[in-house]
Amino acid sequence: VLKKLDSQGSVANSNDLAFTLENGQTVTFTEGETQTLLKGVLDSLASRDMITYEIHTTFDHALLPEGSQIAAKGSHEALVWAALPLKGQGEPMGIPELKKVVGDETTKVGQGKAFKNKWITKEGSGFVKAVESIQDTTRAELEEVAKTGTHSSGEKLLAELRKRKLIVQRKHIHYSVAKGPEFALEVKKLETDLTTDMLNSGAWKNMSYKKYNFNAAGAPPEGGALHPLLKVREEFRSIFFDMGFTEMPTNKFVESAFWNFDAMFVPQQHPAREMQDTFYLKEPQVSQPPPQEYFERVKKVHEVGGYGSIGYRAPFSEEESKKLLLRTHTTAVSADMLYRIANQEGGFKPVKMFSIDRVFRNETPDATHLAEFHQVEGVIADYDITLGHLIAILEVFMKKAGLGNNLRFKPAYNPYTEPSAEVFSYHEGLGKWIEVGNSGMFRTEFVQVAGIPEGVRVLGFGLSLERPFLLRYAMNDIRQLVGHKSDINFIRNAPAVRMDRA
Ligand code: PHE
Repeated sequence: VLKKLDSQGSVANSNDLAFTLENGQTVTFTEGETQTLLKGVLDSLASRDMITYEIHTTFDHALLPEGSQIAAKGSHEALVWAALPLKGQGEPMGIPELKKVVGDETTKVGQGKAFKNKWITKEGSGFVKAVESIQDTTRAELEEVAKTGTHSSGEKLLAELRKRKLIVQRKHIHYSVAKGPEFALEVKKLETDLTTDMLNSGAWKNMSYKKYNFNAAGAPPEGGALHPLLKVREEFRSIFFDMGFTEMPTNKFVESAFWNFDAMFVPQQHPAREMQDTFYLKEPQVSQPPPQEYFERVKKVHEVGGYGSIGYRAPFSEEESKKLLLRTHTTAVSADMLYRIANQEGGFKPVKMFSIDRVFRNETPDATHLAEFHQVEGVIADYDITLGHLIAILEVFMKKAGLGNNLRFKPAYNPYTEPSAEVFSYHEGLGKWIEVGNSGMFRTEFVQVAGIPEGVRVLGFGLSLERPFLLRYAMNDIRQLVGHKSDINFIRNAPAVRMDRA
């Protein structure tokens, strides 16, 4: 390209460019791969301002197989005509015989047309030539198209030939090329990076730099994969939805100590509230106040009791209650939701709610603990429900979630539930009992202080999402899942497998 431009000043049509290979073969750039190659060369030279070029589009016509055949041998009607004897000069030919001589297709198409053109006529049960000579216009038209790529009678005829599938329109591209402001015969190496060395030595001043190509496709962005934990979360969510639960709004990590602890009747002196176990916020330090009358009732039960409880009989600090922290359980949200439902317009209505979201505990990470993990929580508030319902609901959920058909419940203690039970599942794959969660019937003082009507009982359970996840993926270190020890390829590609189904 550069040599041609140098000798001619410009290249009007890139179809005139040719390059001779060592083996003597000539390569042109009129279409296909070589044209793509040329476009790349032109783009690269243009990006260096060595040339400018324009793209031109032209159209022409080429013959389709049937068109070529007609151009070579004649139209179907002409072939039929030619095969027949002149009227009175031979035996008229019937269709079967004609088919034998010129073929089925030509007979089928050509006979009718020749008849319409009055080239042939019927005699007895056969056909004969009606005229001594004919003008095979279709053939002549196609010959002209084959030679010139178009036809002198114009678009109307071309359109008709296209419709008859004898010819096809083709699009062609060529380029016109001119010298650019940086035209030269040599392509200089362009720098793509400005280095410290270049700056220190001053060499940068004399270098040529590659321009940014804002039209480059760029590397395909990789991302947007769902973390395998979230895949399992999606599966659990749909199980809850199937079971008629609604989802609680857990989209806030920061809670007040009131909702996280006080409303749950965790005593203010409880060791779990200490800095070693709970992450408190430095800024801001205090929360918005909870509903005043609810706060007063909770405070009173803490200090002196009520609803059948004798209370903790220890001072209750409002300041402590206002502290902000990273929630240690999603039960803080459940407490808030239960309070809202008890006090909603129209009064309390039975609910089945769940949430699956992150909680935070100030623990040193090891193979089975992280400072943050996901809690799967379910809460049901309804008239006359019992521990039996809690057990049954958990059995159904665990079964659907593929976490075991066999559960065991072990008495436990929570400040907010009585009775409370730890949940164990027998894991077939591992051949042992595994603790999977904690559960219980919410205490009367919790339920009634919130304003939930008498006769309504509330059951709840909390599982971790990570524990069943590790079992399912047969992993033994939770740190492979999140944090710097996790393998990004595993995270990206891990399917939501289930060991019992695998
Ligand atoms: N909050 C409990 C936990 O952190 C789980 C739980 C929820 C227990 C509801 C009972 C009722 O483990």
